[in-house]
Amino acid sequence: MITVSAPGKCILFGEHAVVYGYPAIAIALNIRSYCIIEETNNENAAQFSIPDLGVDLNINLTKEMNSQFPVKYQQFYQGMNAMSEKYGITFEKVRFRLRSDLWIGAGLGSSASISIAFIQAINKWFSLNLTAEEINAYGFLMEKIVHGTPSGIDNTICSVGGAILFQKNSWNKLTLPKFPILVTYSGKSHQTESVIVTLGKNQDNLEKSFKKIKKIVEEGVHALNGRDFEQLGELCTKNQEILAKLGLSTPNIDQIITISKNNGAYGAKLTGAGAGGSVITLGKQKNLQKIQRLLQKKGYLSKICYMDFNGVKINSR
Ligand code: PMV
Repeated sequence: MITVSAPGKCILFGEHAVVYGYPAIAIALNIRSYCIIEETNNENAAQFSIPDLGVDLNINLTKEMNSQFPVKYQQFYQGMNAMSEKYGITFEKVRFRLRSDLWIGAGLGSSASISIAFIQAINKWFSLNLTAEEINAYGFLMEKIVHGTPSGIDNTICSVGGAILFQKNSWNKLTLPKFPILVTYSGKSHQTESVIVTLGKNQDNLEKSFKKIKKIVEEGVHALNGRDFEQLGELCTKNQEILAKLGLSTPNIDQIITISKNNGAYGAKLTGAGAGGSVITLGKQKNLQKIQRLLQKKGYLSKICYMDFNGVKINSR
């Protein structure tokens, strides 16, 4: 039995713009998704389960595997299929169990995180010796099934961990100290693909907005290098204003941001696709604790997170 995990993520600056080739900054969070792969004695079949979602499938390899996978979980089939074609491996006598501690559809990269853990589990189980780059590429393939035209930032940060500056599939690591990030769920999940498509119909404003976001990303790198967290907070607020003008905020997101700012936060913004999902708030630890309590009183789920320096990793074997 092998247990693999991969972190979730938040996008500090640059979501959506990154889909159009602009830069963005992402940070891996210390909330993880897990894939356990183990042997079963079920010949000619693979078992695939996500117990928390009530999913338990027996995939009979003698039949058309694709048709047995519900549309919702097609990315796993596509990942298995691509690896089986390339490496000649067959999925039999094997069981996958998946779970995530991330809120689903909440802008925290749950799909990328679980896909990357899944690929790494297959890699280790079959001793394929995939490079980090190859694991990331299979993760990207799976993300395209889920999100249509993703930028690749989610699968990359979930693979490599830490913090990255990402642009057009190339990236470099940013060296950061540990600092707290309050992550709050707005109470509504989103579907990244449909948010991207809806935004794309608003073409007129986009390039102009994305150029402003690019400047925020550049200033963000500078603030991170200088460990200037107050400046980072202000940049979050600026980035949020642009995202709100693009129609990506919601009354709940606005309320979380207002409560954050009225209680000593450096700044706050939505993270990920928006139109629901989560908000990140930056500030001193004790202020974040107070904000968290206030948000919890209003019924919001929130968690103080830190950067996870590790990307995908083997937890046990
Ligand atoms: O909401 P999430 O975790 O799927 O993040 C989406 C981030 C986008 O920039 C909107 C899309 C992308 O692929 O970069």
